[in-house]
Amino acid sequence: MFSSVTTPLPDTADKKTLYAEIHRALQALLTGEIDLIANLANAAALLFWNLPTVNWAGFYLLKEQELVLGPFQGKIACVRIKLGQGVCGNAAEQRQTLVISNVHEFPGHIACDSVSNSEIVIPIIKNDALVGVLDIDSPEFARFDDSDKTELQRFVQILTAAI
Ligand code: SME
Repeated sequence: MFSSVTTPLPDTADKKTLYAEIHRALQALLTGEIDLIANLANAAALLFWNLPTVNWAGFYLLKEQELVLGPFQGKIACVRIKLGQGVCGNAAEQRQTLVISNVHEFPGHIACDSVSNSEIVIPIIKNDALVGVLDIDSPEFARFDDSDKTELQRFVQILTAAI
């Protein structure tokens, strides 16, 4: 099981191949492990170290109607986000993936790392209950397109099935 995880993912692979590798590695990481924090920590590391031009990847978890910082890779981030605040709080409240090509134009965007210019946030919903969000930031404007959205929603789907 670990060989697929420890083997470096291809640098030059096209996006579809890269995401297929990432999804396969995630599945392998989740197999036989049910600890939520361990699984989210490895999921964050898997994305951060394999997606190009990403400066932050991690999770916020819903606790008493507030998003609270969970496992992540990247610079120190804000700890609590209210529903409806920032990109994360809006994605969580609307239960919809938000793809923001320029975060500086997003009303109420919360700047954790000043180099972030674009962002994608995918809600994590299990049995109709909001669990939290996956948040990924990039220093590149318009870093995330429709194919990233589809593939990262699939990533969250695989993760959700295991938590
Ligand atoms: N930018 C996010 C806050 C979290 S950091 O990007 C890690 C937002 O506006 O919700």
